[in-house]
Amino acid sequence: MSKDFTHSLVILIIVTLVVASFSLVVWVVPNIVRGDDIAKGSLAKPFTAIELAGRDIYISEGCHVCHTQMVRPLDPEVKRNGRPNQESDDIYEFPNLWGSKRTGPDLTNLARKYSDQWHVLHLVDPRQVVPTSIMPAYPWLFEQILSGDDISAKMETLRTLGVPYTDEEIGDARLQVRGKTKGEALIRYLQSLGKDTSQEVSP
Ligand code: HEC
Repeated sequence: MSKDFTHSLVILIIVTLVVASFSLVVWVVPNIVRGDDIAKGSLAKPFTAIELAGRDIYISEGCHVCHTQMVRPLDPEVKRNGRPNQESDDIYEFPNLWGSKRTGPDLTNLARKYSDQWHVLHLVDPRQVVPTSIMPAYPWLFEQILSGDDISAKMETLRTLGVPYTDEEIGDARLQVRGKTKGEALIRYLQSLGKDTSQEVSP
């Protein structure tokens, strides 16, 4: 009769608990303890209502599957993509969109690289501006209109997670978003990427 430990449920549970507690101690606890310090040193500002609506479209269209938002502090990365990420940049990101696969370029510091008009052409059909592009076209983004009905509720939820939205910002949110196309909101989000952190004087 063999006593193979891989068949023991008790050992499986114990080992899972050990691994989970280790992750908790290494990843979660330091952030809870240092949370306020990280927030104090941060240049990040909360997304406006329209940027937030655009961010949701970025997620729902799966842009993060091909694009990272994570510049590592390595020379070739910084030369290509600009300022490396710092943990304090992401205090208002729920969830973070670091990504793990770069079919397209990293978008961390995208703001101001292109005009709004370039983004419209690129999203409607990337081949109009980059003939060899393999990025999919998203023409419907400029046909579908946002109602803005759920944006205040989203901002309230983010406030419970620590994003400092005022009652006024939440109250005005629906009007900011209502009637805009999905594409317009997405471009506001794209033009916000790296805008706040670019004010930092580079070393
Ligand atoms: C199948 C992978 C893929 C998906 C999905 C995708 N992209 Fe791209 N993207 C690319 C590739 C490849 C490029 C480089 C060629 C080009 O500029 O079109 C690119 C380029 C870009 C650029 C220009 C970046 C620069 O620095 O020049 C932007 C902005 C962009 N994509 C935004 C988006 C947005 C927004 C979405 C979602 C609506 C999206 N992408 C979805 C692959 C993808």
